Amino acid sequence: MGRYFPAVAAAMVVFLLLSTASHGGRREPNIKNSEQSFVFNYTLAKAIVEYASAVYMTDLTAMYTWTCSRCNDLTQGFEVRCIIVDVENCLQAFIGVDHNLNAIIVAIRGTQENSVQNWIEDLVWKQVYLNYPNMPDAKVHTGFYSAYNNTLLRPVITNAVRKARKLYGDISIIVTGHSMGGAMASFCALDLAISLGSDDVHLMTFGQPRIGNAVFASYFAKIVPNTIRVTHEHDIVPHLPPYFSFLRDLTYHHFPREVWEHTVDGNTTFQVCDDSGEDPDCCRSVFALFLSASDHLTYMGVDMGADDWSTCRIVMAHSVEQLRSYLTSNIIMSKNPVDVIFVDHSVQIDLSTSS
Ligand SMILES: *[C@@H]1O[C@H](CO)[C@@H](O)[C@H](O)[C@H]1NC(C)=O
Ligand SMILES: *[C@@H]1O[C@H](CO)[C@@H](O)[C@H](O)[C@H]1NC(C)=O
Ligand SMILES: *[C@@H]1O[C@H](CO)[C@@H](O)[C@H](O)[C@H]1NC(C)=O
Repeated sequence: MGRYFPAVAAAMVVFLLLSTASHGGRREPNIKNSEQSFVFNYTLAKAIVEYASAVYMTDLTAMYTWTCSRCNDLTQGFEVRCIIVDVENCLQAFIGVDHNLNAIIVAIRGTQENSVQNWIEDLVWKQVYLNYPNMPDAKVHTGFYSAYNNTLLRPVITNAVRKARKLYGDISIIVTGHSMGGAMASFCALDLAISLGSDDVHLMTFGQPRIGNAVFASYFAKIVPNTIRVTHEHDIVPHLPPYFSFLRDLTYHHFPREVWEHTVDGNTTFQVCDDSGEDPDCCRSVFALFLSASDHLTYMGVDMGADDWSTCRIVMAHSVEQLRSYLTSNIIMSKNPVDVIFVDHSVQIDLSTSS
């Protein structure tokens, strides 16, 4: 699919082979406390994946009015309360209230240009750690953490969640995202759980990469116990940055709990994995040579790609203009006006290298 050099591809395969070679061996030690109260529920997961898919839509007007082609089905009636568009960093998010679920939904989209391949190569080669504040020895991926912490996402999401809770009471919060959006959603859930309490925050991500080391994963499991990390068949992204079981303390490590969507004898199953975060019998059981980028783009039958594959900056800028003219030409008769936050020239962050 990509046009990268064979040598790079070969080295990448070796990397991944090493990282999956040891499955079937010893069990990973459990790093999680067992008070999991977020059990996998197909209907709920389907609604959440639809939110994670909708945040990729580039027509902001249709998102604002919740009339986009992906704003249907289980998410009908969603009350959009805040849309964040960061043109410069190619980030997008929305916050709103799902009255059927009686929950605040936070959905975050990450950078994804027309080739997932480039992004995947970056994850293999440019993995850089950052010390996570107030958690000794916990290290996280610099790019993912900065994309959440050092942009407008963090303050705006926090504020929008507080405002929604002021209006509707302390209803629970569901944070979601796919791919790099899932990585940022994880940091967001951790942040909200620290400030609002672990019980009220639920996280469900789809095809997210690893974001920190084992120490971080273990903190994460305690602070955000209501976490489901869905993986799909041979999706390559959950295998990145690579994990080496023989270097457990030095490499990236997933937090629990993975739920692996895959086909068994022609039936789609959702396998609930162990609480190690790195269950060798779930997606890690796939041999590295068979990992694929295409399984990354569909979850639960829902399309997880952007609806427009031009480069992010151009599409978003165009869409921002569209929404601006919509807002100025319509008097919005809404009890709760939507906050629309545009960032045309925010702090530049570098998603791929160290600081
Ligand atoms: C699954 O979630 C849906 C939607 O929230 C809910 O209506 C249903 O009762 C749940 N099912 C179970 C078995 O908990
Ligand atoms: C995270 O954001 C806070 C508040 O903006 C800032 O003070 C802090 O330095 C950031 N942390 C890192 C590690 O960049
Ligand atoms: C797959 O589904 C068919 C039809 O529902 C069923 O008969 C079969 O036992 C299922 N196979 C497995 C492995 O669950």
